[in-house]
Amino acid sequence: MIKPDGVHRGLVGDVIKRFEQRGYKLVGIKVLVPSRELAAKHYAEHDGKPFFPKLVDFLSSGAVVAMVFEGKDIVRTGRTMVGATNPLASSPGTLRGDYGIDVGRNVIHGSDSVESAMREIALWFKADELADYTPAW
Ligand code: CMP
Repeated sequence: MIKPDGVHRGLVGDVIKRFEQRGYKLVGIKVLVPSRELAAKHYAEHDGKPFFPKLVDFLSSGAVVAMVFEGKDIVRTGRTMVGATNPLASSPGTLRGDYGIDVGRNVIHGSDSVESAMREIALWFKADELADYTPAW
């Protein structure tokens, strides 16, 4: 998911391009301004941490682009492409390493496990919003 800072800075195209050029298949995408309730559900595992209220405020502060990609080892490889949570610790060449210095405004969220991905996809998408198709090649 491209967070409000990434959308505001015009980084949507670059994020999608990186996943597409790697060979991942885009099967779901939507633009929305998340409610505080949706943002809190998305970050439920962080509820109670000192930064949780700001996290919810920030995610619901503007438009986000929620996406579902499919492909070999997408969760693990996707995390590598996204980079470390703290952009200061992210390698150049990763999205966060190329575009951020602030842990709160770190451009993009990537599911950290297959289980998280399943939960997050169900939270952000209805089943009929995910395309079932075979690439032409
Ligand atoms: P994300 O991968 O979306 O998952 C949880 C988010 O919490 C993380 O990216 C950061 O944006 C945010 N986060 C983690 N640690 C901190 C922190 N110490 N202060 C503020 N935000 C944080």
